[in-house]
Amino acid sequence: MNILLTGGLGFIGSHTATVLADYGHHVVIIDNLYNSQKETLNSLRSITGKVLPFYEGDVRDLPLLKRILKEEQIECVIHFAGLKSVAQSQTNPLEYFDNNVGGSIALLEAMQAINIKKLIFSSSATVYGAPQYLPYDEAHPLQPINVYGRTKLQVEEILQDLSQSDDAWSIVCLRYFNPIGAHNCGLIGERPQGIPNNLMPYLCQVASGQLPHLNIFGDDYDTKDGTGERDYIHVMDLAEGHAAALALMNRQTGFEAINLGTGNPVSVYELVHAFERSIQRTIPRIVQKRRSGDLPIYYAKVDKASRLLNWRAQRDLQAMCDSSWKYEQKIRAVL
Ligand SMILES: NC(=O)c1ccc[n+]([C@@H]2O[C@H](COP(=O)([O-])OP(=O)(O)OC[C@H]3O[C@@H](n4cnc5c(N)ncnc54)[C@H](O)[C@@H]3O)[C@@H](O)[C@H]2O)c1
Repeated sequence: MNILLTGGLGFIGSHTATVLADYGHHVVIIDNLYNSQKETLNSLRSITGKVLPFYEGDVRDLPLLKRILKEEQIECVIHFAGLKSVAQSQTNPLEYFDNNVGGSIALLEAMQAINIKKLIFSSSATVYGAPQYLPYDEAHPLQPINVYGRTKLQVEEILQDLSQSDDAWSIVCLRYFNPIGAHNCGLIGERPQGIPNNLMPYLCQVASGQLPHLNIFGDDYDTKDGTGERDYIHVMDLAEGHAAALALMNRQTGFEAINLGTGNPVSVYELVHAFERSIQRTIPRIVQKRRSGDLPIYYAKVDKASRLLNWRAQRDLQAMCDSSWKYEQKIRAVL
């Protein structure tokens, strides 16, 4: 298939590009480089052995999108492009609604105009909000507790309305849990700008001496060891979930929301210990007070993905840590 990846130079998009190219799909990328680097294209070329057509541009640029969809004869779009910091979304809500919701509407308008009606959307576990029960299944109430989560929920609602207005649409919202890890070759991975918001990139920067110590926000939660628990999933497993979702879209139309996680909650200490095994050193750390807005624990029920996508995460926590560290060492070697 000819597939457009919006935000395809970012963390999840670039890994998905390698998997789809491997399956023989023709992958085209649009990215405005807001949170990614153009060099990732060279890495994708080395990994896939293919030159992936790349457009530097914004998904809110409707004429550009229409031109790409037409000229590249796109059949399906995977919409990764968006902003993803919970903290920044709280201080800059308009930017988040504009990019995440406005960008999605522009993309849908372009797709509708060219009559392309297959879409995979990068949604998030944040759409669920405070757990009323765990694991979250897809029927759990949707009550996000931050602006970022509300932008994702609004897009999901738009997509549901769209699919009800026209039954030719085939839409899959993939609700990602906590992707970490990197491609085995160490050429692509997660590379946040500035001080990382997420635990794994933070750990990597402490290990490589960019940051002095890890802050652990709260060790007095009612969890297995007092620290927060999350459902970490290897980004390559997540990438393979997209290939499985493509197969589903070719079998059915309508709207589906599907969790992509492992179903196993892992605590901050468990992740730190696994990472210490990867680097064979200890990580300096300081326990801080809980951060407001942090949930003690959440994780996914993954039965729907298994049933509809015939997909399950395969890689373990150690593989996630080893590959993240391998990537960190490669980027530090070239910087
Ligand atoms: N990483 C996570 O923990 C996580 C979890 C759940 C959901 N998601 C969602 O998955 C998607 C991909 O996440 P990621 O971790 O790869 O993020 P990322 O920031 O690495 O990738 C997003 C890419 O989109 C690009 N982009 C942003 N706005 C754009 C625009 N208007 N036009 C064109 N390109 C634009 C950025 O430059 C970047 O390359 C995002 O929508 C994110 O909200 C991520």
